[in-house]
Amino acid sequence: MLQVHLPVKLFVFHTPELTPSDQVPDCAIAVDVLRATSTIATALAAGAEAVQVFSDLDELIRVSAGWDASQRIRAGERGGSQVEGFDFGNSPLACTPEFVKDRRLFISTTNGTRALACIRSAKVVLAAALINRQAVVDYLLKHRPETVWIVGSGWEGSYSLEDTVCAGAIAHSLHTSLGCSLTDLVGNDEAIAALSLYGQWHDRLHELLQSATHGQRLLRLELADDLKYCAQTDTLDVLPIQREPGVLVKN
Ligand code: MLT
Repeated sequence: MLQVHLPVKLFVFHTPELTPSDQVPDCAIAVDVLRATSTIATALAAGAEAVQVFSDLDELIRVSAGWDASQRIRAGERGGSQVEGFDFGNSPLACTPEFVKDRRLFISTTNGTRALACIRSAKVVLAAALINRQAVVDYLLKHRPETVWIVGSGWEGSYSLEDTVCAGAIAHSLHTSLGCSLTDLVGNDEAIAALSLYGQWHDRLHELLQSATHGQRLLRLELADDLKYCAQTDTLDVLPIQREPGVLVKN
């Protein structure tokens, strides 16, 4: 039978603060290229049982206390550094199968987990980074949600280049595959701006991330390898999807 697809309308919001709180899209995608959504995708690809996200560190400790210590990892990051007393900060490179396999990652980060919290009521919630961009696009092409929001994590309420360029990378691949007009696809000016940013930097993403404010912060913290890893495109075929509020699993 011929399947009729409704058009996909794509909106980009640069920060959780700029994301409407009185509407719910069919699909919402949180992006925190540096580094929360890169870490979430990597942990799930390496076999973590699930990733449970928290805005608040105390709440993370309280909920994860119900889990056996051998089955949980407590990850806390603030300002790019690991929070004292936590097992782990927010480095995707630390998410090896030896460390994460079959364990639940309980994670709270400065901005990324707040972005996921702000979209948790959407019908479908995904986590995207540059490394799993195509897995996200493939999901959108298969399921064709009518309204899609891409929500950047930003940094404490302000804009971040790396999340916007990832939104542009998603929009670019979607636009190319759908073959529709740009005006049919995009829902707001931010989506066009994201596409333009990606168009200008798509072959120099590592350079862009190194110039970004948070990229600079990570370089000062001697996390250049994390930055290089997060700047890669389509290296992981993994789609983090919310199974219950705040809990993401591999689709
Ligand atoms: C965040 O949530 O702001 C980040 O993922 C920060 C980081 O750890 O690089």
